[in-house]
Amino acid sequence: MIEPILPAYVVAADTRADLLDGPLFPEEEAVVSRAVGRRRREFTTARVCARDALRRLGRPAAPILPGPAGEPLWPDGVTGSITHCAGYRGAVVGSLADAAAIGVDAEPNEPLPDGVLAAVGLPPERGHVGGLLRAYPSIRWDRLLFSAKESVYKAWFPLVNIRPSFEDAQIDVDPLGEFTARLMAERPLVGGHPLDVLSGRWLVADGIILTAVVVPAAGKAY
Ligand SMILES: CC(C)(COP(=O)(O)OP(=O)(O)OC[C@H]1O[C@@H](n2cnc3c(N)ncnc32)[C@H](O)[C@@H]1OP(=O)(O)O)[C@@H](O)C(=O)NCCC(=O)NCCS
Repeated sequence: MIEPILPAYVVAADTRADLLDGPLFPEEEAVVSRAVGRRRREFTTARVCARDALRRLGRPAAPILPGPAGEPLWPDGVTGSITHCAGYRGAVVGSLADAAAIGVDAEPNEPLPDGVLAAVGLPPERGHVGGLLRAYPSIRWDRLLFSAKESVYKAWFPLVNIRPSFEDAQIDVDPLGEFTARLMAERPLVGGHPLDVLSGRWLVADGIILTAVVVPAAGKAY
C-alpha cells in the first residue's frame, strides 16, 4: 500500500491485518513480555513485516529491538522505519548505501482530536491546513500534517540522535502528494553536507493516510 510513495531502492512490507504467526526472537519477546492486546499485536506484526522486507532486500532475519528513544535498531548496513495504526502495520527498509534515513507513518483519515493541531502546528502550517480542508474536504489535512511530522521525526532522529519537537520543522504540504520539511533545529549531515530540508510524499487510500520521508544517501535521489 505504501510502495507508491517510496523510491525503488527501498523495500516495503505492509498489511491491514495482524500477522501473529511469525515468531519473535527471544530478545523481542522480552520487550513485549508484559504487553497485552493491541501493543503485542502491532509489535509482532511490524516485526513480521520488517523481516519480510529485509528478506526481499537480501538480508537475513534479525531481531528489531527498540533503542533508548524507541527507535528501531536495524542490522548493520540497513536503515528503516516502522509504523502502525488501527487497520495498518508496515515496515520499510533500505541499504545505507542508498538511503541515509527513512521515516514512515500511518494515520486514520480522520480529524485530529480537539486541540492537537494547535499544539503541533506552526501558524503557517495551521493556515495552510485550513485552506486545504476547504479546497479538498475528503482528506483530513490536519491529520496528514501530523503524520508528516511523525515521518520527519522518525527519519530525523536517527541522523542526529536528538529528539526534535513539533516546532523544529515547518512542513509545507503540496496537494499533489509531496511535502517538504524545513529543519529549524539540528541539521543532519549527509555525505558531509548539512540538510536544511527533508522531502516526503503522502497518499490516502482506504481510509488510511500514509506519509514517507526518505533521506537519500549521497548521490541518490528520492
Ligand atoms: C515516536 C513517535 C514518532 C511514534 O509515532 P506514532 O505515530 O505514535 O506511532 P507509530 O505506530 O506510527 O510508530 C511507532 C514506531 O515508531 C518507531 N519509533 C519510535 N521512536 C522512534 C524514534 N525516536 N525514531 C525513529 N523511530 C521511532 C518504532 O519503530 C515504533 O514501533 P515499535 O515500537 O513497534 O518498534 C511519536 O510517538 C512521537 O514521539 N512523535 C513526536 C513527533 C515530533 O516531535 N515531531 C517533530 C518533528 S517535525
